Amino acid sequence: KVKQTTVSLREMKKENKRIAMVTAYDYPSASAVEEAGVDLILVGDSLGMVVLGYDTTLPVTMEDMIHHTKAVKRGAKNTFVVTDLPFLSAHISLSETVRNAGRLIQEAGADAVKLEGGREMLEEVRAIIRANIPVMGHLGLTPQSVNQLGGFKLQGKDLDSAKRIFEDAMLLEEAGCFAIVLEMVPTPLAALISEHLKIPTIGIGAGAGCDGQVLVIHDMLGITHNYMPRFVKTYSHLYGSMVESLQTYSREVKEGAFPTTEHEFGMKEEVLYQLKK
Ligand code: KIV
Ligand code: NA
Repeated sequence: KVKQTTVSLREMKKENKRIAMVTAYDYPSASAVEEAGVDLILVGDSLGMVVLGYDTTLPVTMEDMIHHTKAVKRGAKNTFVVTDLPFLSAHISLSETVRNAGRLIQEAGADAVKLEGGREMLEEVRAIIRANIPVMGHLGLTPQSVNQLGGFKLQGKDLDSAKRIFEDAMLLEEAGCFAIVLEMVPTPLAALISEHLKIPTIGIGAGAGCDGQVLVIHDMLGITHNYMPRFVKTYSHLYGSMVESLQTYSREVKEGAFPTTEHEFGMKEEVLYQLKK
């Protein structure tokens, strides 16, 4: 499998080849993603919601992102890994921002970082890129601003907000981002942005006009069992299988049906005899 780069991704866009990206947060899921040949892995701060059980991504820390990125890297040594800069990690000062982005590369082993926000984050984007760290932008529904946006809802519906997202995309490309995630924006807006950018757009709830797509792995495999946004396609229903298997296991233990000889270890008769004496 060929590992993608910031350069090969731009080539893919030029050649009209779609980019497939999915999140991963641990060793087995990362191996599965790599074996499936998915182009890019995102260690998203969505891990706060789907792995750690928080209601939002806001409680996720740098330490969480480093911990999970390391596990992902062990499972997917040959896949381009992007790690999210978590809440507040790029907002205190430029030096702290660059330090945090650097830790995700140097300590955790990510190939690039993702940062939410448009014009208000340009200084940070430029500072990180100046440190030779590739940056993926993220516009539209930016979950770290959920309290300002008033919920997880569609962005860019009216002229003002659509124009702002469009301009922010142009500004992020100009600042040097290698790709931009567009989350929960109308399909025509995402298509228009994708046409005007030379860098690829990766959509989630942004329609088929994007240059690539990203989904949260727990959502698309059906491990997420509570609320599921409409833009998710569920390719498996693993939560149901997990519960079923666990019920069977529990019942077999109680009935004495597990374990049987095939899962047990024996001992030499004479050793047992000596032991009992
Ligand atoms: O954290 C995440 O999974 C993301 C994607 C939804 C783009 O940022
Ligand atoms: Na995220």
